[in-house]
Amino acid sequence: MPNHFQPITIDDFEALAQKSLNAAIFGYFSSGADSEMTLQRNRQAYDQLLIRPKILVDVEKIDISTTILGQHIQTPIGFSPTAFHQMAHDDGELATARASASLGTCYCAATYSNYSMDDIQKAAQSISKDALQWFQLYVEKDREVTAKLVRHCEKVGYKALVVTVDRPRLGRRLIDTRTGFKLPSHLRLGNFSNEDDDDDARTGEGAYLTGHIDASLSWADLAWLRSLSSLPIVLKGIFRAEDARLAIQHGVSGLIVSNHGGRQLDGCPATLEVLPEIVDACKNTNVEVYIDGGIRKGTDVFKALALGARAVFIGRPVLWGLAYDGENGIKRVLNHLNYDLRLAMALAGTTSIDSISSDYVVPSSYYSFENKIKSKL
Ligand SMILES: Cc1cc2nc3c(=O)[nH]c(=O)nc-3n(C[C@H](O)[C@H](O)[C@H](O)COP(=O)(O)O)c2cc1C
Repeated sequence: MPNHFQPITIDDFEALAQKSLNAAIFGYFSSGADSEMTLQRNRQAYDQLLIRPKILVDVEKIDISTTILGQHIQTPIGFSPTAFHQMAHDDGELATARASASLGTCYCAATYSNYSMDDIQKAAQSISKDALQWFQLYVEKDREVTAKLVRHCEKVGYKALVVTVDRPRLGRRLIDTRTGFKLPSHLRLGNFSNEDDDDDARTGEGAYLTGHIDASLSWADLAWLRSLSSLPIVLKGIFRAEDARLAIQHGVSGLIVSNHGGRQLDGCPATLEVLPEIVDACKNTNVEVYIDGGIRKGTDVFKALALGARAVFIGRPVLWGLAYDGENGIKRVLNHLNYDLRLAMALAGTTSIDSISSDYVVPSSYYSFENKIKSKL
C-alpha cells in the first residue's frame, strides 16, 4: 500500500516492498544464487558504460514506441516472466496484465503464475484488444503436459512462446534455504491442477518445480516444440554466440540475453557484457535480440538499446510496483522508467528508439587518465 513516502526511483519501490512483504517472500523475490556475484554484476555492468551525448539536436519530440516480432509496443521496456505474483498482491498476474495492457507494452506471463493463462489473457483483453502477451514455458518431464500448455496458450491468444533454457535445475538460493521459503498454502499454480500438492512439495521453489522440469531438454527438442504451435519461439537465457548461431539454425525468432536475474549460475557474466556478441551473431538475420537483468534506470535502457537490444525486459521492478500498489504500482514503475528513458534520450540527443546506436556509448575505461596519458607517450 502506498504510504506517505513517495517512491521516485526503482530502488525506492524496492525499499517499500521490503517493508511491506514478509522476509521470506522479499528474500525469494530479491535474492540471487549463491554469493550473488552475477546478481550484482548485472547492475555494475551498466555503470561501466558511459553515454556520450550529442548536442544541439532538436529533442522537442521524443518517440519511444517500437515493434517486437512485428507487434507495435509503446515502450521498449517489457515485463520478464516472474513466478507467483500473488505473493506480492492479491490481484497477482491479473494486475500485471492490466498494467501492461494499459501502457501498451509486452507482458511475458510465467508458466508458474498463480492465475491461469486464460485469466491473465482475459485481464489484458479487458483493457485492450491489442494487448500483447507472450507465454514463458518450462518444459516438463511429462511432455504431454507441456504440449497441452503450448497448444492452449496459442488458442487463447498469446503471441510468442518464450522457452526458458537456463534452468535445467534450480540455482541455489541461500536466502530461501535460510528462511525456509515456501509458496504460501493458500496460493495455487494457475496453469496446473494442483492435485498432487502437499506441504513438502511447496518447500522452496525447487521441490515442486524442479521435480517437474525436464533437465534433458536439448537442441533436438526444438523441432518438437515448433511442431506444437505456429507461435514464434524466443529462447530466454542465451549466453554464447555459437548458441545464438545454433538457435538461428533451429528457426527461433528471438533471443533474450538473460541470466535469470542472477538466480541460476552464479559467476557468469552480466547480461550487458554478453549482449554485443549475441547481437553480432544475429546480424543480417531476422532474429531479434532482447535483454533482461539489472535494468533499473532510463540510462540502463538506453545503454542496452545502444548495444543492439531491440527491447529490454524488467523482472523485479514489476514485483516491487505490484507489492506497492497492485496494478497502479506497476503502472507507476513503468511510467517512471518511460519518463527516465525519454529524459536520457533528450539529454543524449536522440529522439527515436532506432536512432540509439552504439556510437553513443563507450566503456568507462575509454576516459581513464591512464589511457589518456599513455596515448600521449
Ligand atoms: C522472483 C523471480 C521469479 C522468476 N521467475 C521466473 C520464471 O518463472 N521463469 C523465467 O523464465 N524467469 C523467471 N525469473 C527471471 C526473470 O524472468 C528475469 O530474467 C529476471 O528477473 C531479470 O532480472 P531483473 O529482476 O534484475 O530485472 C524470475 C525472477 C525473479 C526475480
